[in-house]
Amino acid sequence: MTVVGAHSHQCFKMSWERAPLLKGKTILVTGSASGIGLETARLCTAMGAKVLGVDVTKRFDHVEEFYRADLTDGATIDALIDVLPKGIDGIANIAGLPPTAPADKVLAVNLFGLKHLTLGLLPKLNDGASIVNLASLAGFGWSDAIPAILASEGVHVDDATRFAAEHQITNAGGRSYFFSKEALIAWTMQNRWTWRDRGIRMNTVSPGPVDTPILSDFLETLGARAEEDARIMDRPGTPQDLAPIVAFLLSDMTTWIRGTNIPADGGMSSNILCEMHGLSS
Ligand SMILES: NC(=O)c1ccc[n+]([C@@H]2O[C@H](COP(=O)([O-])OP(=O)(O)OC[C@H]3O[C@@H](n4cnc5c(N)ncnc54)[C@H](O)[C@@H]3O)[C@@H](O)[C@H]2O)c1
Repeated sequence: MTVVGAHSHQCFKMSWERAPLLKGKTILVTGSASGIGLETARLCTAMGAKVLGVDVTKRFDHVEEFYRADLTDGATIDALIDVLPKGIDGIANIAGLPPTAPADKVLAVNLFGLKHLTLGLLPKLNDGASIVNLASLAGFGWSDAIPAILASEGVHVDDATRFAAEHQITNAGGRSYFFSKEALIAWTMQNRWTWRDRGIRMNTVSPGPVDTPILSDFLETLGARAEEDARIMDRPGTPQDLAPIVAFLLSDMTTWIRGTNIPADGGMSSNILCEMHGLSS
């Protein structure tokens, strides 16, 4: 029975993976060299897209074109924007640094560099394009960080160090990482209608713990909190759990989803909400 179940699951997966959901589309995937970005590049290619990969690490798998770029640096991002082709139908902003990296670098890649690249690419996007930002369950508490979020608006990627110092955003307790994701969720909501006249939409996907090379950094930073998560979760996510959600948001099936944060966390955010509001399970 197990063998039949596994086989039928595989057939199901094979058939939807080959669905030409993204046929004819050009999709830019940042962080395409590892983890969720690598799997998203693979799936988008399988679904018919021409994938342009961007990463600081060279890796050419599953992309038609690869651009090596350090997304902490404003001049590098500007040069990348210049060389990328026109006619992009989707951006999957997946590159990210974990909470163990220096705080200003975390803010630069996960927030300020992402915004700089996205805004700079707007003239090269086709009407109807979809932008998908990888946030995190770590951004769940965004509403408690409004003053710093407002202060972060318009900060240039090259000013990440100054911003981190002024707002005392350090790595203690993973704060730099949490803030980067909180502000990303807020920025995405704020821009729900900014490019509506061109049919361009933007959303976030917020994973819980996912089994990629940076999972150990989270466990190291969060300590007892991560142990508690591991105790109540049945399993961590995998890149294969996340890539289909990103691909779905990049497709034309989701044109009315705008400015939304989609949790994909094995039930963790619902668990937090039930506990917060005293709902029994
Ligand atoms: N793994 C998790 O538990 C988890 C949970 C929630 C959210 N996320 C988010 O998912 C995204 C992908 O993470 P992942 O788990 O696949 O990690 P990963 O480390 O496997 O992949 C991240 C990629 O980003 C690239 N990158 C890092 N710094 C860069 C820079 N300066 N310029 C260009 N590229 C750079 C890395 O080279 C790497 O290929 C990140 O934004 C992360 O915050 C991950």
